[in-house]
Amino acid sequence: MSEAPKTDHAYDGIEEYDNPLPGWWKWLFIASIVFSPFYWVYYHNGAKGRSIEDQYGVALAENTRLQFAEIGDLKLDGPTIAKFMAKDSWVKVGESVFRANCVSCHGREGEGKVGPNLTDESFKNVSVLADIGKVINNGAGNGAMPKWSNRLHMNEIVLVSAYVATLRGQNVEGGRPAEGREIPPWPEPAAEEEPAADEEAKS
Ligand code: HEC
Repeated sequence: MSEAPKTDHAYDGIEEYDNPLPGWWKWLFIASIVFSPFYWVYYHNGAKGRSIEDQYGVALAENTRLQFAEIGDLKLDGPTIAKFMAKDSWVKVGESVFRANCVSCHGREGEGKVGPNLTDESFKNVSVLADIGKVINNGAGNGAMPKWSNRLHMNEIVLVSAYVATLRGQNVEGGRPAEGREIPPWPEPAAEEEPAADEEAKS
């Protein structure tokens, strides 16, 4: 080391050896330059399914498919919506559907923009829980509220209905003033039957 020549600068008397870069470092440097165009062409030429974003989308869709297999095909009715309102992890799935499709008109927290405030106690097109699902599925206000039946999976409609139903009464600040009329509270979700206890009862 001490045979290496010194650089010609010195700071406050501190000098520096002019050691050459190690061979492995130089080769790694050259190899990464040679590798980069191939990488760029492979991942960034627009071919479908290769970018991280595409792979994420595929994984997400696959995951949703698996999860939906777990709950089967849901029915869009009051009891089903009530049941899923009580399941936090499914309400989260509903929330992500809401974030992706509804915030432009209903606001990030459901406080209302073009569309009505979903966090107060008053509704225009809803009197019972099942109506939330109906409005989302079929649309309302002559299309001012679009219908989602051909854009979302039925399970997504049920889950986003459950999420929307949980927004009620949160009265997010700065929300749109109440529209429509006040409606009676949602029903309590039916108690879950315990599958294990059920099995025992039968045998
Ligand atoms: C293009 C804007 C727009 C989008 C996007 C939109 N909505 Fe609406 N929504 C409206 C309007 C406007 C109304 C009120 C219709 C009326 O006047 O009867 C409404 C009404 C509703 C109602 C009934 C509220 C009430 O007071 O009766 C619910 C529930 C609802 N939307 C949920 C959703 C959900 C969930 C989504 C996303 C899947 C969504 N909306 C996306 C504009 C929109």
